Amino acid sequence: MANFAITGAQWGDEGKGKIVDVVSPQFDVVIRFQGGPNAGHSVVFGGERFALHVLPSGIFQKHTLNIIGNGVVVDPASLVKEIEGVTSRGIAITPANLKISERAHIILPYHRIIDKFRDIGENGPVIGTTGRGIGPTYEWKASRRGIRFCDVVDPARFEKKLSQEWAFIKNNFSHIAELDRLSCEQIMEEVTAPLKRLVPHVADTITILAEARARGSRLLFEGAQAVLLDIDFGTYPYVTSSNSSALGIHAGAGVPLNTVDQVIGIFKAYTSRVGSGPFPTELNDSLGEAIRAAGHEFGTTTGRPRRCGWLDLVALKYTHLLSQYSYLAITKLDVLDEFDTIKVATGYTTEGGTTQSFPASCDILESLQPEYREFPGWKTSLANIRTYEELPKQARDYLEFIEDYMQCPIGIVSVGPDRNQTIIRPGRFPNA
Ligand code: IMP
Repeated sequence: MANFAITGAQWGDEGKGKIVDVVSPQFDVVIRFQGGPNAGHSVVFGGERFALHVLPSGIFQKHTLNIIGNGVVVDPASLVKEIEGVTSRGIAITPANLKISERAHIILPYHRIIDKFRDIGENGPVIGTTGRGIGPTYEWKASRRGIRFCDVVDPARFEKKLSQEWAFIKNNFSHIAELDRLSCEQIMEEVTAPLKRLVPHVADTITILAEARARGSRLLFEGAQAVLLDIDFGTYPYVTSSNSSALGIHAGAGVPLNTVDQVIGIFKAYTSRVGSGPFPTELNDSLGEAIRAAGHEFGTTTGRPRRCGWLDLVALKYTHLLSQYSYLAITKLDVLDEFDTIKVATGYTTEGGTTQSFPASCDILESLQPEYREFPGWKTSLANIRTYEELPKQARDYLEFIEDYMQCPIGIVSVGPDRNQTIIRPGRFPNA
């Protein structure tokens, strides 16, 4: 049985949570492998909307095991709040259906403070981070100073580690006034109760996943952020601090290389980006505002307005080189319902002519001009359409052009936020 991965193919916010929710009944285990509370995955069903940050989107399926893998960074208080928010609405979350890797790193208050302090740009680029302490926690991990869940299972060991770490922070970050006002006792007070609440979920997820594979369970790996925000392959330095492409799965979940059979790339019918960094097809005009308004493009985690623009097929094709998608899923096609003309970038103009390659340098990316192909809009609501054949011809032409450019089938078309507003294409998606 095939194991799948779902990853964002743009700069995040593509609707991964919805697609994971739609396909997860076919899977036994859903695994998050990177990112942390910077992510915001929306799931809508039965007239209710849930915003998940660290919980895998399989949490709504009764039979599904959900795993927060070793590559995820977890803020204890924020995860407990998220769990309580979901359980208060009648969804069961227990140590049986949610496991947290004992190797996952913990976001502590000083990581959040350092993240916000650095992102004001006095001594480096303003990334426009979510301020959740993501970058510093991964930095602590790489510098071998991090505290992991295996360290907190024994409270005395945790207290010892934290006080050692706090001495290091005091010696090295005294220039940050907010840290100066914090004490080790306050940190303990903030995290002790949430950690106690989470400890029953802490587990050896490597063995759990190995056993699941041996039993023939089907695994679904749920990416957060997206390829263009990947620390290695995104628009560095305007990226997050983890490998948020499918290439991060094996290290971030602790599974062998042959585990993932198929990768689904999720992309929106247009493009959005939050925070700083190059965005060749950005629309800084009323059209961009119209997309933002129609798509409700405001951050799930921070509420920030998202930058909006046309679909960029050069960027999307670049992510395909890294991911080798088996299927694409297009979301928010309905957001373009009212537009007279829809554009997609098919190349970039450079001094030397046209290119279809996506440059590593942000300076070069910022200097390029997109070349567009125009499509007539369909000017009708797609919200109630449930089969591909019912889509207006203009919409099908748009999708077929994308498939042709990408050389990859579009297996799922999403025409609204609800679970039901999804077209799964027979012959182009398994089990459809
Ligand atoms: P960080 O992940 O908080 O360090 O933020 C780094 C960059 O990634 C910023 O530009 C954020 O806006 C962006 N980012 C992080 N998480 C998400 C997400 O889930 N969706 C979209 N952008 C994100």
